[in-house]
Amino acid sequence: MAIQKVGVVGCGLMGSGIAQVCAQAGCDVVVREVSEPLLDKGLKSIEKNLARLVEKGTLTTEARDQVRGRLRGTTKLEDLGDRDLVIEVIIEQLPAKKELYAALDNICSPETIFASNTSSLSITEMAMFTKRPGRFFGMHFFNPVPVMKLVEVIRTIASDNQVYEDLLAFAGKLGKTPVRTSDRTGFIVNRLLVPYLLDAIRVLEDGVASVEDIDNSMKLGCGHPMGPLTLLDFVGLDTTYYIANIMFDEFREKRFASPPLLKRMVMAGWNGRKAGRGFYDYSDPAKPRPLQLT
Ligand code: CAA
Repeated sequence: MAIQKVGVVGCGLMGSGIAQVCAQAGCDVVVREVSEPLLDKGLKSIEKNLARLVEKGTLTTEARDQVRGRLRGTTKLEDLGDRDLVIEVIIEQLPAKKELYAALDNICSPETIFASNTSSLSITEMAMFTKRPGRFFGMHFFNPVPVMKLVEVIRTIASDNQVYEDLLAFAGKLGKTPVRTSDRTGFIVNRLLVPYLLDAIRVLEDGVASVEDIDNSMKLGCGHPMGPLTLLDFVGLDTTYYIANIMFDEFREKRFASPPLLKRMVMAGWNGRKAGRGFYDYSDPAKPRPLQLT
């Protein structure tokens, strides 16, 4: 089955990126947000990204106009009724997802494929909110979506094999490299990444090294594009804390347990770059100042 008409539910940081890459890949895209101001914000960030690509010469103005023509924003869920695939990118709360999928299940054709961009919730549990568990998958993109080449494509024990292959091919059409993974909390990337990020906090807590030296070590010693504490600020401390708690709940292993410092920073609202403060202080965004633990 060729996936041509795509719906994206949620136009925040991840949703807007997904809508953009789908439209750039030639799909007809409808992106839905709950309110006009939120939709406007998401569409503006897509415009900004496209403008940057035109400025760099990666995209012609004609191609940008075609992308714009393939992308439509809405606040009405009903506008997703004719989609081949709906990708859900809303808040990571099961009751909200349940309500959304129950509504989408009635609005969309039984043939429509549903895919959640969740990073930590169970795909199987969400699939059972619908009458189409065979056509329900995970499609986990990475931030920033237009840049990161990976998509984890997650199947469940109830998944239809052919539809899974179609979805993997679709991820390839987006210019991404899809990887196959099953429905285990954290999939591949977060299963490996989250313990590493939590360990970086433990190294800081234990007084082994400073924020800057931990980050420089992994950047310069291992060739990572960002050090772990910079990456934590980038992903969001609240997000990481939330994912770690779900993983700990699933596996009951110490390596997924949040260090006390992470919990304290989340309690203080020091959630990273978006909050202006995390392991770095971003008062001067050009020169972030590392946290000093006394
Ligand atoms: N949107 C679109 N393009 C962006 C962008 C954004 N938000 N941020 C950067 N870019 C583009 C830039 O325009 C630039 O493009 P060109 O090479 O064509 O000029 C390119 O990315 C590199 O950007 P910069 O030179 O400004 O900065 P950089 O070299 O430091 O790269 C980065 C920035 C791509 C974010 C890089 O630091 C990186 O790869 N960091 C690691 C990110 C990462 O690990 N993401 C995964 C997080 S985990 C997750 O998302 C899943 C989860 O469940 C938690």
